[in-house]
Amino acid sequence: MSLPQWFPTIFIVLVFFFCSLALPSHGSSHAVVAEEEDATVVGYGYVVRSVAVNSNQKLLTAELDLIKPSSVYAPDVQTLSLHVSLETSERLRIRLTDSNQPRWEIPQTVVPRAGNLSLRRFLSEEDGGSSLENNLLEDPSSDLFFTLHNTTPFGFSVSRRSSGDILFDASPGSSDPNTYLVFKDQFLQLSSALPENRSNLYGLGEHTKRSFKLVPGDTMTLWNADIGSENPNVNLYGSHPFYMDVRGSNGHDDEAGTTHGVLLLNSNGMDVKYEGSRITYNVIGGVIDLYVFAGPSPEMVMNQYTEFIGRPAPMPYWSFGFHQCRYGYKNVSDLESVVDGYAKAGIPLEVMWTDIDYMDGYKDFTFDPVNFPEDKMKSFVDRLHKSGQRYVPILDPGIGVNSSYGTYVRGMEADVFIKRNGKPYLGEVWPGKVYYPDFLNPAAATFWSNEIKMFQEILPFDGVWIDMNELSNFITSSPVSSGSSLDDPPYKINNFGGKTSINQKTVPATSIHFGNVSEYNAHNLYGLLEAKATHQAMEDATGKRPFILSRSTFVSSGKYTAHWTGDNAAKWEDLAYSIPGILNFGLFGIPMVGADICGFSYDTTEELCRRWIQLGAFYPFARDHSSKGTARQELYLWDSVASSARKVLGLRTRLLPHLYTLMYNAHVSGIPIARPLFFSFPRDAKTYEISSQFLIGKSIMVSPALEKGTVAVDAYFPVGNWFDMFNYSFAVGGDSGKRVKLDTPADHVNVHVREGSIVAMQGEAMTTREARTTPYEILVVASKLENISGELFLDDGENIRMGEGGGNRDWTLVKFRCYVTGKSAVLRSEVVNPEYASRMKWSIGKVTFVGFENVESVKAYEVRTGERLRSPKISLLKTVMDDDGQKFMSVEVSRLSLLVGNKFEMRLKLA
Ligand SMILES: *[C@@H]1O[C@H](CO)[C@@H](O)[C@H](O)[C@H]1NC(C)=O
Ligand SMILES: *[C@@H]1O[C@H](CO)[C@@H](O)[C@H](O)[C@H]1NC(C)=O
Ligand SMILES: *[C@@H]1O[C@H](CO)[C@@H](O)[C@H](O)[C@H]1NC(C)=O
Ligand SMILES: *[C@@H]1O[C@H](CO)[C@@H](O)[C@H](O)[C@H]1NC(C)=O
Ligand SMILES: *[C@@H]1O[C@H](CO)[C@@H](O)[C@H](O)[C@H]1NC(C)=O
Ligand SMILES: *[C@@H]1O[C@H](CO)[C@@H](O)[C@H](O)[C@H]1NC(C)=O
Ligand SMILES: *[C@@H]1O[C@H](CO)[C@@H](O)[C@H](O)[C@H]1NC(C)=O
Repeated sequence: MSLPQWFPTIFIVLVFFFCSLALPSHGSSHAVVAEEEDATVVGYGYVVRSVAVNSNQKLLTAELDLIKPSSVYAPDVQTLSLHVSLETSERLRIRLTDSNQPRWEIPQTVVPRAGNLSLRRFLSEEDGGSSLENNLLEDPSSDLFFTLHNTTPFGFSVSRRSSGDILFDASPGSSDPNTYLVFKDQFLQLSSALPENRSNLYGLGEHTKRSFKLVPGDTMTLWNADIGSENPNVNLYGSHPFYMDVRGSNGHDDEAGTTHGVLLLNSNGMDVKYEGSRITYNVIGGVIDLYVFAGPSPEMVMNQYTEFIGRPAPMPYWSFGFHQCRYGYKNVSDLESVVDGYAKAGIPLEVMWTDIDYMDGYKDFTFDPVNFPEDKMKSFVDRLHKSGQRYVPILDPGIGVNSSYGTYVRGMEADVFIKRNGKPYLGEVWPGKVYYPDFLNPAAATFWSNEIKMFQEILPFDGVWIDMNELSNFITSSPVSSGSSLDDPPYKINNFGGKTSINQKTVPATSIHFGNVSEYNAHNLYGLLEAKATHQAMEDATGKRPFILSRSTFVSSGKYTAHWTGDNAAKWEDLAYSIPGILNFGLFGIPMVGADICGFSYDTTEELCRRWIQLGAFYPFARDHSSKGTARQELYLWDSVASSARKVLGLRTRLLPHLYTLMYNAHVSGIPIARPLFFSFPRDAKTYEISSQFLIGKSIMVSPALEKGTVAVDAYFPVGNWFDMFNYSFAVGGDSGKRVKLDTPADHVNVHVREGSIVAMQGEAMTTREARTTPYEILVVASKLENISGELFLDDGENIRMGEGGGNRDWTLVKFRCYVTGKSAVLRSEVVNPEYASRMKWSIGKVTFVGFENVESVKAYEVRTGERLRSPKISLLKTVMDDDGQKFMSVEVSRLSLLVGNKFEMRLKLA
């Protein structure tokens, strides 16, 4: 839940811009400056003093001198060291910092990075020879090259060798200081020109937006804040200074869709201004540590980005089931009646959650002795576990200040709280007065882990939900009395959409973390550090793969946690916002993401809730959650919602093996589970604008109804044949992409699967445990032109490791391929690590072929496993001609019993 009533602050617009002009002047060059300085010029840039290139080490270094200071946001840093390296053939790093003294950088322990850019790695000038010409850093192994422009002021660019395309262009615009590199103690500016009509930018969150593609004129502020996600275009809970740029064609077809990624690895507050022809970062601290990821496909950018920031954590199998939560559940019998309600309605329910209601006075690791007493909670959770269901409680970071509260006492003894003026900083959240554990302090992780372990021994909860970790604070503390430019930096980022103080409703910037790190610098890292500690704590406490859900996130949070889009509203626009919301988190390396289904704040309606479950059933993380005081919205409360829920959650349940395989792919290569259409169709520019449809994996497309009263949706279908995922009938096809109006009656959502895919499915069930006992169904969607392929990943769903690593062999990967010629169709499987699936005796019960074109019948079929030719008699062959024009035929081969762990070949003779 959110802190209430933040909203008016958004309107407090401070007039700040010219305040800093009153600052005293500085530096010996003042006299020169005084006669020339334009009081609005933010900086004059730098010139290159020396440069050295070492191509063996793929390194370029340079020293830069300030041209002259400006008094805006002063003081300027006098000399800068530039360090450019091709860290891998696909990753180029550009680091700029003060030559003379160290500055704040995200610690290696928080986001580990390659190499240690200590000064000894800086090159001497003899190494490479300086020249007044432009200097290049390039290597035959890399498509990226770097150019240092020896201009006044200096600039640099990163280009793609294969096409000459300039990817990041920080060369100075003609006499426009807003394009210059500016490097002051509390203000950095980095700006890149973009080819306006070819750049398509995505990312730079966390923000609520209608359009997934960034819109020129957007300013994205990154400063973690407890602001409800129902508020568009303001900074929210997390910070991800990463974008993906998909380049449209340059008139040459073969260039459309080349994609690269850009990360500014910096934890300080910032505004990122996107103006179509330019992107400009204005950052209030730290250094410039810029990474360019070469792509050239969106999938490869994700692979390269998550190779760097860390691969997404594997999520347990059960977490792909359906979740129910509400802030405001009254007592344990209320929880029980919700679980019963789902069972009676025949709607799958996997996980029951509790918000802060279960706590005693909102204190972590306690139970309300009246409404949620420990013994009743224990038997409730035991009952859930017996029926294959799960339980996840919430934890907030603020520890209630109360000397008879054990957690507080232990925290004080271990001295783990964030401090200000030498004492723990006193904030206020749900328990009243609180201290906040300082997760930069290793002792805080130990303290937290110990509390979680003790609580886990009392109540065997299955995952942990960490909320309010922006950090949220119900009060705004005054600046320190001595005055500090940390509490009140010269440049005001657009906090709360109104240039509000960065201390607004959070821990003040002058608070101090372990190692003398200021909150000013570490603020955006809190949620990441809490997620990391919580993940480790759950791994230690349970020995199983953790499920953590965090509201606040930063670069690399995906290594530890899932995310939901926070406090949305039960409004139609929020239903639509949820698609860009989940797609963005895929790009941020956090593929397990969803939005509160049916909406969190305000009363939902039957129609909205029905449409929301029709979409939400296809979020990677599917949870219904609502706020206290709003209308209840469990899916069984309305017949029409219940019936839609059975249909769509039925399909979700059948798709669990596929979703879980996509989790595996995300874990090993960073590719999101829910993807924008351009991931599969990067050359189709029409996909760049789409914010209302998405893909599950490479080829299942969801085109939901997003408007009240609608019975049709306009959907875009990229090239190829698409089939209805509920009944496998042909829907749309063709040689080029098409806009299509699709019927969307009240009980229907459009979900289509594209030709060329093989999707592993299982049967419907009320829980994932039950679903996992049903036979597999392999759906093969034929294609004349393309390879037909798919994968299935199998393990026990809760092993700490997913796939390889740590010598883990308890998993199997099955790769399916199908070849269709005029006369036959051959489906083959190849099995990596077959022993595991064989031991589990999982079997395929049915293979469904869809989309055989111009085929009239199937003459015969046979199945080979190993050397054995199996008798076809045990199977049942059913062919279905499509209604529309009889163009496509489907074939169902059922009553099979093929072990998933054994490779097989199935051959159909077509006529
Ligand atoms: C970086 O260098 C420091 C000091 O030389 C060393 O303690 C640290 O372990 C190094 N870190 C990495 C990631 O190499
Ligand atoms: C970009 O496209 C717009 C509209 O199609 C056009 O007016 C403009 O001149 C183009 N700009 C460039 C730089 O090509
Ligand atoms: C649980 O809460 C409901 C609603 O307030 C109330 O009617 C019921 O009596 C409570 N049950 C128990 C066992 O406290
Ligand atoms: C302090 O904690 C105790 C034990 O949980 C509780 O009974 C008491 O009400 C709390 N006091 C305050 C002021 O919150
Ligand atoms: C902590 O950092 C501040 C500001 O950077 C500095 O003035 C102070 O001396 C440091 N204190 C310690 C104990 O290192
Ligand atoms: C399959 O479902 C679609 C969408 O509801 C419908 O238009 C079509 O008629 C159905 N086809 C069959 C064969 O039932
Ligand atoms: C089909 O797969 C083969 C082998 O993996 C590959 O060489 C070929 O390019 C693929 N064809 C298409 C159309 O993707």
